[in-house]
Amino acid sequence: MNTGPDMDRDQALALLRWYAEVGVDEAVTTDPVDRFAIQPQPVAPQAVAPPSAVPVLPPVQKAVVAPAPIAHDSEVRAAAAAANTHDELITAIHAFDGCPLKRMATTTCIFDGNPQARIMVIGEAPGGEEDRQGKPFVGPAGQLLDKMLAAIGLDRSTVYITNTLYWRPPGNRTPTPEEIALCLPFLERQVALIAPAVLLYTGGTAAKAMLNRSEGITRLRGRWFSLERNGREPIPAMAMFHPAYLLRRPELKRDAWRDLLAIRAKIDELQIQTGATRQGS
Ligand code: URA
Repeated sequence: MNTGPDMDRDQALALLRWYAEVGVDEAVTTDPVDRFAIQPQPVAPQAVAPPSAVPVLPPVQKAVVAPAPIAHDSEVRAAAAAANTHDELITAIHAFDGCPLKRMATTTCIFDGNPQARIMVIGEAPGGEEDRQGKPFVGPAGQLLDKMLAAIGLDRSTVYITNTLYWRPPGNRTPTPEEIALCLPFLERQVALIAPAVLLYTGGTAAKAMLNRSEGITRLRGRWFSLERNGREPIPAMAMFHPAYLLRRPELKRDAWRDLLAIRAKIDELQIQTGATRQGS
């Protein structure tokens, strides 16, 4: 493929599509750089070695970028445990540099909604729009999540929304088990400090991480699980399809609606104040 300055529109679009497919979908600086306009530095003329001379190899270049530090589990646990309030935890997560994803993210995207809410939603990871705004579920999947919540009388004043990760995986790839395990102590502390009465896991990544199960979301969704906590009331938890998945598979919205009705019934059973009762009742 011609990738030079004289490439035509179709070639430029094909190149952009290829970039997007391999996950290069973000500019890494705020201002564009016209690399074609940057003149290559003139190379000093080399002395021509006599044919008999032993060739001298250039020194091996050392990597200039140091590998991203990976925090130890104990370090993350200590940082999470030291937070006694939600505000302190948010500060600790912002200060945490041990997750390599942070280097590529624009923002640290921790939560949206109401920290006093009794219902907590846990998604997968920030996408492009979330990364720009620093708030979970504000892109197309978030708009569908808002509609799903509204259908059972909930909104961002009555739920607290977060993700298993606080930094966007490049190209929106699925988070690795290592990335999830690294951030899990923060998420567990978030659950402990918010102390919700009902937990909703949207999508397989959140469900598997929180339930410590290996089945896919199709098997996990629509069932009540219980999040056990040391010496405290267990929290009822339901897994459901991720709104981004429902956007791709609209025929599954019927199952999602059943799950939403079960969630509303649980909210009513627990007499959680949400400013609304079950629709139609
Ligand atoms: N998908 C998620 O799981 N979380 C977000 O915040 C956005 C999209």
